[in-house]
Amino acid sequence: MIEEAFKRVFGTTPDTVARAPGRVNLIGEHTDYNNGFVLPAAIDRFVWFAGRKRADRTVRAQALNFADAVEFSLDSIESDAQHPWSNYLRGVSKFLVEGGRRLPGADLVVGGNVPREAGLSSSAAIEVGTVAFWQKLGGFELPPVDAVKLARRAENEFVGVPCGIMDQFVSGLGREHHALFLDCRDLKYRHVPLSGEVKIVICNSGVKRALAHSEYEVRVKQCREAVVQFRRMGMQVDSLRDVKFGDLIMRGKNLDKIVLKRATHVVTENDRVREAVKMLDQGDLKFFGKLMYDSHKSLREDYEVSSKELDVLVDLARQQPGVLGARMTGAGFGGCTVNLVERNAADSFAEAVREGYQKALGLKAEVYICETSTGALAGR
Ligand code: GLA
Repeated sequence: MIEEAFKRVFGTTPDTVARAPGRVNLIGEHTDYNNGFVLPAAIDRFVWFAGRKRADRTVRAQALNFADAVEFSLDSIESDAQHPWSNYLRGVSKFLVEGGRRLPGADLVVGGNVPREAGLSSSAAIEVGTVAFWQKLGGFELPPVDAVKLARRAENEFVGVPCGIMDQFVSGLGREHHALFLDCRDLKYRHVPLSGEVKIVICNSGVKRALAHSEYEVRVKQCREAVVQFRRMGMQVDSLRDVKFGDLIMRGKNLDKIVLKRATHVVTENDRVREAVKMLDQGDLKFFGKLMYDSHKSLREDYEVSSKELDVLVDLARQQPGVLGARMTGAGFGGCTVNLVERNAADSFAEAVREGYQKALGLKAEVYICETSTGALAGR
């Protein structure tokens, strides 16, 4: 389809096609920028690219989902407020050029089916997909982890969102039938097999993540503040990753009240991720599911990034047969929940949630029964 779209737009066949998946985070929320642990999976929703070299230094890009086009020169890449979707492409391209990669001019189309502003990392998919696209078209290859870091840098420094590394990492290096257990401090990772007996079901609240940007920054700052306050007490910590639950008990009373709540989420969430990986390894999906519910509670009460709609979706899930666990996923303030559902119960679960959500809030929830997929930089 992407090839046909290219033909339609540019009247010729593309040289190259690339794609990168969106992601869902199973557990480990708001831990990545605290040097902690995460357990996301790449999903079977993708951003696709098709392109053809040009003889000059121009990039012409058409976004199929927006019916919108931009044109820029590889010799001076600036941010473009009129076409915000293009900034992911521009940022990645700029940092590749600055890093000494010789990119050819290109005509390209980009489009896909990762739901936007739903917390499923459509932006990371564009960034990582852009790296994959240029690698193929330009005939070079970065070490995958360097490519992931560059994609994140584009988001941090060019787009201006202070995100952690989880989304780009799993969009690049996820693996089919596996979740990805990542230590965000040293970037060591392991693919953890997911049982075929369960389905990952994503429920989209349909509420755009209104506060996500501003409140995300507030949380990042509060976590830094927690570290500052722990250090003032003489503790040797570089990030909340280094704080143990016992430290919270012993020293928590000396922290600002809000800061303590935020730290409590991060510290307990890191413990939950490690526990959850053990449970996956042992095949104890029931306990894994319980950890998902616990994570949601912590995000709602201590980190305060859930919303009424997400809470309703999790409560609905809890009442359905065959559901092992449910929680909000991604940054919060709208977006999606992730649900672990027994394979045979997935369809009726989807139906029941759509109905219940409509009844409870008068809102429509989209439900995606997902397969996991392989990342753009992992080699298939
Ligand atoms: C967003 C960010 C990630 C991560 C999550 C919360 O998706 O891009 O880096 O911080 O929020 O876990």
